[in-house]
Amino acid sequence: MATSSPLFFSFSLLLSLPLVLLLAPRLLSPKTLPPIPAANELQDLALFRRATLSSSNLSSSDLHSTRPKIAFLFLTNSDLSFSPLWELFFSSHSSLFNVYVHADPSTHLLLPQTPSFRHRFIPSQPTSRSSPTLISAARRLLAAALLDDPLNSFFALLSQHCIPLNPFPSLYHSLLSQRPLKSFIEILADEPSLHARYVARGDLTMLPEVPFPQFRVGSQFFVLTRRHALLVVRDRRLWKKFRLPCLKSRESSCYPEEHYFPTLLSMRDPAGCSGYTLTRVNWTESVDGHPHLYGPGEVSADLIRTLRKSNSSYEYMFARKFSPSCLEPLMELANTVILKD
Ligand SMILES: *[C@@H]1O[C@H](CO)[C@@H](O)[C@H](O)[C@H]1NC(C)=O
Ligand SMILES: *[C@@H]1O[C@H](CO)[C@@H](O)[C@H](O)[C@H]1NC(C)=O
Ligand SMILES: *[C@@H]1O[C@H](CO)[C@@H](O)[C@H](O)[C@H]1NC(C)=O
Repeated sequence: MATSSPLFFSFSLLLSLPLVLLLAPRLLSPKTLPPIPAANELQDLALFRRATLSSSNLSSSDLHSTRPKIAFLFLTNSDLSFSPLWELFFSSHSSLFNVYVHADPSTHLLLPQTPSFRHRFIPSQPTSRSSPTLISAARRLLAAALLDDPLNSFFALLSQHCIPLNPFPSLYHSLLSQRPLKSFIEILADEPSLHARYVARGDLTMLPEVPFPQFRVGSQFFVLTRRHALLVVRDRRLWKKFRLPCLKSRESSCYPEEHYFPTLLSMRDPAGCSGYTLTRVNWTESVDGHPHLYGPGEVSADLIRTLRKSNSSYEYMFARKFSPSCLEPLMELANTVILKD
């Protein structure tokens, strides 16, 4: 297995500590930016970093680059079937991104051997719907990316079913050229099911930290600034509530990962958020909370162009959900449509 090297093992030990320990105040004092891990942890991370650097062919200009990077955080419980498409997306931009993968260890997925994904798996815990485990996994990815590379400036959460809709430079430009830098996270109020979801853990459980008027919903798939990624991993006040299990009788209203991030960021820094997601999804005829799953017969240049368009002035950068069998038609469109403006 790709992750069994001794160097990676020491990194594993560090990140498999409960997140609560990893993010203890001693490590992430609110007064010191960026976080200062203990000396032996820094050493472990430096070893991880050197191991990953030497395993890829980076030029010396890449190594000395100080340009901000995008951290791509893949949250998955099955094979990363689209890694060849992502490699095309990443190619020739190696100094401007890092990949991190959180793979549910109870699912034995194939480790992609393509350069951007090899050795990029972080120590992970099982994940399941209707539980706070998807929040934990996203927080673990954010913590790993924050500690790994101080140049990581934006943190994009994606799944194995996500695809890029635009070339890397378009994404980089639309994130990094904003003034001021904002997070792209959907933040909605006034949704019909919001109250049922608020009381999923019990009528008064969220109080006093989260009064109902401040409770929000939004897509789990976000792109956060470094400042907001730090805000999330340091948070204990709201996490204490959102990590509580839902009542058995109210499990059909239990989607913690769609509430924690939008609620936290809208309470703490609404002006720093765009309020929308960059990941397009198709909820037409959704079944059991699952959006439309595109099959290979639906993939076309027109579909890609349609999915990019929003009702506003921005373009979507990613889309989901695509079934693994879409890889071939997507690869055929990569150079002529997806990665071409
Ligand atoms: C690095 O480059 C060498 C020679 O060009 C090649 O054989 C090797 O596979 C490359 N390694 C990686 C990790 O891309
Ligand atoms: C959304 O999904 C429906 C099927 O549920 C499909 O008919 C429609 O074409 C899809 N829309 C887009 C924009 O892909
Ligand atoms: C645009 O607005 C229409 C009407 O409100 C809505 O049905 C559609 O889903 C929206 N499209 C996107 C991409 O948000």
